[in-house]
Amino acid sequence: MTPSRPLALLGARPRIDRSEWPSWPPRRAEFKAALEKVLADDQWGLGSDAVSQFEAAFAAAHDATYCLSLANGTVALYAALAALDIRPGDEVIVPAYTFMASVSAVLRAGATAVLADIDPLTFNLDPEDTASRINGRTRAIMPVHIGGNPADMDRFLSLGSEHGLAVIEDAAQAHGAIYGGRKVGAQGLAGTFSFQSSKNMTAGEGGALLTNDHAFYEKVYELANCGRTPEGPAFMHLSAGLNLRLSAFQAAVLNAQLEPFESEAELRESNGRFLEEALNGIPGIRCAGRYARTGRNAYHLLIFRYDPGAFAGLPKTRFLEALMAEGVVATDGYRPLQELPFVNHTGAPLPVTEQLCRDQVWLRQFELLADRPLLERLVEAIQAIQAHADLLLEAPHD
Ligand SMILES: Cc1ncc(COP(=O)(O)O)c(C=O)c1O
Repeated sequence: MTPSRPLALLGARPRIDRSEWPSWPPRRAEFKAALEKVLADDQWGLGSDAVSQFEAAFAAAHDATYCLSLANGTVALYAALAALDIRPGDEVIVPAYTFMASVSAVLRAGATAVLADIDPLTFNLDPEDTASRINGRTRAIMPVHIGGNPADMDRFLSLGSEHGLAVIEDAAQAHGAIYGGRKVGAQGLAGTFSFQSSKNMTAGEGGALLTNDHAFYEKVYELANCGRTPEGPAFMHLSAGLNLRLSAFQAAVLNAQLEPFESEAELRESNGRFLEEALNGIPGIRCAGRYARTGRNAYHLLIFRYDPGAFAGLPKTRFLEALMAEGVVATDGYRPLQELPFVNHTGAPLPVTEQLCRDQVWLRQFELLADRPLLERLVEAIQAIQAHADLLLEAPHD
């Protein structure tokens, strides 16, 4: 690297070769063996041991009594809401900063999605703003542990009991996250997870619902299993249920991830803390904070704010291009959900969400599985972009 070409975007060698990052989904020999075992079995779906083993292990790993594996995180959320017997006119409060599935599940369950703003420090659903949007039609609150960073569950659980509302955690991004000394997912009435390809535990697609409430578990089971009861005959259908089941092949791939999961979650936590400290030391970069009772962030995403003012006015798009050129896959994130044409947002403004959607930069969970020296080079790349932002501004580009 020559001093006159300090950045990859200006012609220097990238600080990181993309192939140095851990690959995701993970490639492990155990997956092949687990899949071959299912192939040789009679049960590829209903009645398979792989599915029941996964459900028992995932519940135990998340301090929950019941786990129902499901086709994906979207239908898991839908099933949780539908099992509340939601009716048209009922309202469910969801954060304006989340993946659209959190809202589409509410709409598909027939309720109105009421968007609430987020906490500017943690980027999670704001309890105060949530409280201000509760009324006689509110049926449930859906905190989303955004990026795997636990929401303020103490506050949401007390709001829930104060107003007689169900608290459904969208834990799609929060496998293994800890709040108040317990895993997230079954802290409220129920919580749901996703095993889609990008997630910290994945089967390509897949989902799960956790609860400690037996009656609620049975309601979701019936909905997800053609109207059947867990022990009932195959052709006894209590209601117009759907088939939302996970297959044995997906369960087998998930089972093979359970053993390494805890050490991976610990590695993401320690690397996440390391990166946050280093990045927060760079003027103009501010990572999401955590609540005092958070024991472990799942770091599905490491989200930070970027302030162009501290980078000589370098626009965020150009900052991301420069970082990408250095071999770091950093991206923009969600748009405010109120912009979606099918979301009928008529409530108070959502300024914190709008600001974060302008500022946000995302790093991905598997980057946090990298060795420390690689993460140090990531930090150096951002420092170099800051030091030479004026050159980037001067350089011609499209
Ligand atoms: C916060 C959140 N909720 C729900 C979902 C939906 O999960 P799935 O993609 O498995 O349907 C996702 C997945 O991306 C998510 O990130």
